[in-house]
Amino acid sequence: MKSFNIQNRRYLGNKFKLLKSIKELVAKKCGNYSTFIDLFSGTNVIANSFNSNKVKIISNDLLYSNYVIAKSFLEITKSPNGLVKKIESLNSIKTDKENYFSKNFGNKYFTKDNAIKIGAIREKIEKISTNSNEKFILITSLIYAADRIANTVGHYDAYRENLDTRGKLELQVPNIDYSKNKNNRVYCMDSNILANEIKGDVVYIDPPYNSRQYSDAYHLLENLASWKKPDVFGKAKKMDRSHIKSKYCSKDAAEELKDLITKLNTKHIIFSYNNTGDSKDGRSNAKISFNQIKNILMKKGKTEINQIKFKAFTTGKSKTENHKEILFYCRVK
Ligand SMILES: C[S@@+](CC[C@H](N)C(=O)[O-])C[C@H]1O[C@@H](n2cnc3c(N)ncnc32)[C@H](O)[C@@H]1O
Repeated sequence: MKSFNIQNRRYLGNKFKLLKSIKELVAKKCGNYSTFIDLFSGTNVIANSFNSNKVKIISNDLLYSNYVIAKSFLEITKSPNGLVKKIESLNSIKTDKENYFSKNFGNKYFTKDNAIKIGAIREKIEKISTNSNEKFILITSLIYAADRIANTVGHYDAYRENLDTRGKLELQVPNIDYSKNKNNRVYCMDSNILANEIKGDVVYIDPPYNSRQYSDAYHLLENLASWKKPDVFGKAKKMDRSHIKSKYCSKDAAEELKDLITKLNTKHIIFSYNNTGDSKDGRSNAKISFNQIKNILMKKGKTEINQIKFKAFTTGKSKTENHKEILFYCRVK
């Protein structure tokens, strides 16, 4: 059966291309560390790359869909019995009966057939999962499979008018290294609340940069993962997302960051900042300025700035010629 890796999904602002630079910086600056915290973990490609028997990973993200994936890749210590058989049985489902998912998202984000199948599989996962770990992994497999054939440019703020994504849905097995996960902890919380409850050696901080809420961009995956079948609204068929709005996308972003950094109990802070330049619609403009970040970090400890050239995954509207990715490093006092 085919398999997939944690990075095989599309996600705005994911740092897969920055992995090498972050690893180099941590190796150079942080010496021996036994806990690595990824506080805005998104796809978890960064947390996953630091996962080893010697390092405890703490991963956190506000979105439940990211939490489900993080649970699967980073916290579960044993492959569920008969996993491949279950995935095969989900792939073999044949139905043309409409369901919650196909009614709302069929002929929009997916072909009708694919949407019917996604909804039917999600429903079946509720029935066949014998424990929560198995359920997390089956939902993870479904999220990646659905995202591979979605009629979008990589997020669900809108679907493409031409429904020409005609690939067939195929669930695959996630490549999880269960042997490394024993000490890890995965959370789905507001980072500013979690910061009161955890401590560690290194924290990697990669919050949203602008007013684009991740809950808007990934509402569909969130809906699929949590499967509470809420009413959806508007052309983009979004559910109510008030519980997953981030203050980092608001005018209070800088205050929020200040509060977070004050609370953090770690020895090293790595902070990702990217400068995409200002765009026409304003939604892509940064909510926290370079100087604000620098000043906040300098109060916490000696801070260095590393600039990395990096081609971003953007929605296509922002200017990327002068795109710079910056890694702040702060040695906490
Ligand atoms: C730039 S993305 C992180 C990308 C990630 N480093 C990666 O490589 O995939 C920012 C993430 O922060 C999450 N987020 C936003 N506000 C948050 C908050 N207050 N607490 C925790 N996570 C939050 C979003 O859901 C999003 O996944």
